[in-house]
Amino acid sequence: MSSPTLEKHSAALDAAENTASENITVTFRIRRFNPEVSEEATWQDFQLELDPKERVLDGLHKIKWDQDGTLTFRRSCAHGICGSDAMRINGKNRLACKTLIKDINPEKPITVEAIKGLTVLKDLVVDMEPFFQAYRDVMPFLVTKGNEPTRERRQSAEDRERFDDTTKCILCAACTSSCPVFWNDGQYFGPAAIVNAHRFIFDSRDEAGEQRLEILNDKDGVWRCRTTFNCTDACPRGIEVTKAIQEVKRALITRRF
Ligand code: SF4
Ligand code: FES
Repeated sequence: MSSPTLEKHSAALDAAENTASENITVTFRIRRFNPEVSEEATWQDFQLELDPKERVLDGLHKIKWDQDGTLTFRRSCAHGICGSDAMRINGKNRLACKTLIKDINPEKPITVEAIKGLTVLKDLVVDMEPFFQAYRDVMPFLVTKGNEPTRERRQSAEDRERFDDTTKCILCAACTSSCPVFWNDGQYFGPAAIVNAHRFIFDSRDEAGEQRLEILNDKDGVWRCRTTFNCTDACPRGIEVTKAIQEVKRALITRRF
């Protein structure tokens, strides 16, 4: 005769089994590039077992750890915070750590490739330097003049709200590398730099808004934007990137911010 405690445990185990997903076999089709081996990039297929609730990043780890240690990609936090694992997954820019297998049709091969518009160094790793240079160029820090205040710089809730959306940027480059203008010549500052300029231009405590606007009034600045909304669609933080760019354009015309 089984005890009530044992029955309870077995019922709990049954319930856990019912909610657990079955592993499925998926194919990752990865664009590989190693300049030490060939000047051409090639697609390579890997088959692996994954729980559909796992993420593309988990699949990449499994391939690297169990099948091919040379597979090269960036990642750090694995939780959508550091911005280091933006890649093109099934043709769309996404964070590998935020993309669940079940959400991207695992019945077909899942394509994974480096983001576009930046030089590929190896496999899924691109040279981020031009991206970060554009970021540095817009002075992404608070600029104030005069004497240091003796107490904190105060700001109303309404004034803080003006740039709340653009504070969420994690510099993943998903927006900039989804922009056709950026693909064309790579000189355009790109959406991410403008988002980070917006964050300070509309900060009531900052005193370098005019300077940032002049930087973005350049031939490679905001006027290159063709409002395709690719950037807004690509942003894993849900930032209204195109709207921020429009607000910077308007501030350039009206000089009100
Ligand atoms: S605006 Fe969004 S997509 Fe662009 S770098 Fe920031 S977080 Fe990434
Ligand atoms: S690994 Fe940090 S955002 Fe994906």
